[in-house]
Order: sequence, then C-alpha cells, then structure tokens
Amino acid sequence: MDLFKQDLVSVAQSPLSHWLEVLPAQLSHWQTKQLHGEWAQWYSSVRQLPQLEPSQVSLADTVSVTNPQVSHGEQQRIAGLLQQLMPWRKGPFHLHGVTIDTEWRSDFKWQRVAPHVGDLSGQQVMDVGCGSGYHLWRMLEAGAEQVWGIDPGQLFVAQFLAVRHFMPSELAARVHLFPLGIDDLPPLARLDTVFSMGVLYHRRSPIDFLQQLHGLLKPGGRLVLETLVVEGDQQTVLVPGQTYGKMRNVWFIPSTEALLHWLQRCRFKNAQVVDESLTSVDEQRRTAWMEGQSLADFLDPNDHRKTIEGYPAPRRAVIIATA
Ligand SMILES: C[S@@+](CC[C@H](N)C(=O)[O-])C[C@H]1O[C@@H](n2cnc3c(N)ncnc32)[C@H](O)[C@@H]1O
Repeated sequence: MDLFKQDLVSVAQSPLSHWLEVLPAQLSHWQTKQLHGEWAQWYSSVRQLPQLEPSQVSLADTVSVTNPQVSHGEQQRIAGLLQQLMPWRKGPFHLHGVTIDTEWRSDFKWQRVAPHVGDLSGQQVMDVGCGSGYHLWRMLEAGAEQVWGIDPGQLFVAQFLAVRHFMPSELAARVHLFPLGIDDLPPLARLDTVFSMGVLYHRRSPIDFLQQLHGLLKPGGRLVLETLVVEGDQQTVLVPGQTYGKMRNVWFIPSTEALLHWLQRCRFKNAQVVDESLTSVDEQRRTAWMEGQSLADFLDPNDHRKTIEGYPAPRRAVIIATA
C-alpha cells in the first residue's frame, strides 16, 4: 500500500474522505492480486529515476520539468529508463532534457476543451479514464485544488508515476492516479467537475456509464464529456462490427443529438455541444515513442474520410452538462 500512502492521506483530508470506506481495500487487492505481468519491471524503471531538483516547471502544452544543471549522462540515463515504459500514447512531456513525443498530441484535445471549461480554482476535479495523466497536469494548471485520475491501464499508471516523480512536491501532492475502472468507484457525489474523454465508446453500457458519472458529481457539478460521434439525428447511433478503426473495443458511437438525448434521460441539465471536429493524422500518429500502428493505418488509404472498415472517420465532440 506504500505506493498510494500519500494519496490516501490526501483523500482523507479532502471532501472525498468517505471514499476511504472502499479505496484502501481495493488498492491492497490490486497490489496483491491484480498486477500486470510486467508491472515489476515498469515500476523498477520508475524507482531508478534519479532524484533531481526541478528548477523550471511548465504545465502548458508540453508538460515539462527541467534543471539546466542536469548532465548529459543523466539525461541519457533518464531517456533509457523512460523508454522502458514505451509505448507512450498520451502527452507530450519534456523531462530533464528528454522530450517524449507521444502518439497523441493530447494538447490538441485540451485546446478544444479548456476554453469552455475555464477556471477550475479551488475545485475537486476527476478525470475518468485519464491514461498517463497528461490532462491531470493541465487541470492543475487551470487551478484545480486536487485532481483525481482513475485508469485501469497499468502501463499508464507507471508513466504517470514517472512524470510525477520529477514534479515539485507541492504540485505532486495535488495530483493522483488510482489503478481503477469506473465500476470500482462508489457514487462519491462530491466532485465539482468530472471529465471523461475518449472512454464512452469503449463502454458496453454507455447509459450506465453516464449515470455513474452523474453519481460522482455534487449537485450542480459539471460533466465534461469528450467522445467519438457520427453525423445524424436524435436516433442515430453507430454500432460497429468487430472493429472500428482497427479497435476491437468500440461499442456505441452516437450522434451529438443522440448524446444530448441520453444525457437528458440521465438527469443531466443544460447539456451543450461546445466543440466538434475530425481527428487529424497530426493529432494521432506514430512517433519514436510509439512505434506501432496509428491513425494513418486505421483509415482508408484512398479516402481519409472513412476508416479502413468503411465507417465515417473519427469525429469527436465535447459536451458540457450540469448534474
Ligand atoms: C482513448 S483513451 C483516453 C485517454 C484520455 N482520457 C484522453 O482523452 O486522451 C481511453 C482510456 O480509458 C481507459 N479505460 C478503459 N476502461 C476503463 C474503465 N472501465 N474505467 C475507466 N477508464 C477506462 C483506458 O485504459 C484508456 O486509458
């Protein structure tokens, strides 16, 4: 449990202290029964990262921590350890001379979302399905008091711990990532803002998922939902075949009209579509830090308006609603 000791202290001191009724037992179970076969290696790389004084920190588009005193040899060592945590999908990060050019320019997504979210000062904020936690740092930049991420992807958890390792302690103490899925969360009913970006279409029961997100928010709290959509009316939903853009775990892609309808059925109020855009091959692409296939391989090579299966190419919407 040592891994999450400080995070649990932060929970105890926050308005989410009732989470402690289930969280410590879940984390112990995770550490004894659910560890990925490669976790020990990933975590060993994190633990070998050198202790370095952060002299400059930026939580802007490239989340970065630097110190000009760090030697070339140390930079090489850090690069080698961070490469052990490949593939890096969500970023970019710059850590003591090492630029991690991730598969996704997650800063592009934040640029579409942030102007509509505004100031998060003093807020308890959660990001459900936060990946490596790139956006958690951006939420801190926007003023959040405490930022809580959950994601069941264990490589993402290791990447998050590597980034947080280099952060100044006063910032690190306000940003948390627990290796949980949405079904592990009780209805906390205290969050000011809950983000869930890129997760809804992976859920087999999207309505249950929206209700779970509702249950996390305090009355009047805000949901910021980002997901794949198709063009169409209130009754249009694409349920792909075995794959969508070569992804096997895509279940429901509604139109924005359908999504607004679902949100209303789940008791959200004032739901508004604040952005809708096509995903470009500049936003999701193969890099030196993610050497596998990426968006260009998932689209029809002769017509980028379609996926390789012939479905509409990825189009994403951002919707904000009130609980
Ligand atoms: C497409 S990624 C989106 C990551 C990030 N939110 C973003 O927008 O860049 C989907 C994420 O959902 C996570 N995920 C999968 N199942 C989940 C679940 N049951 N609860 C929460 N997150 C889940 C995955 O591990 C993955 O990190």
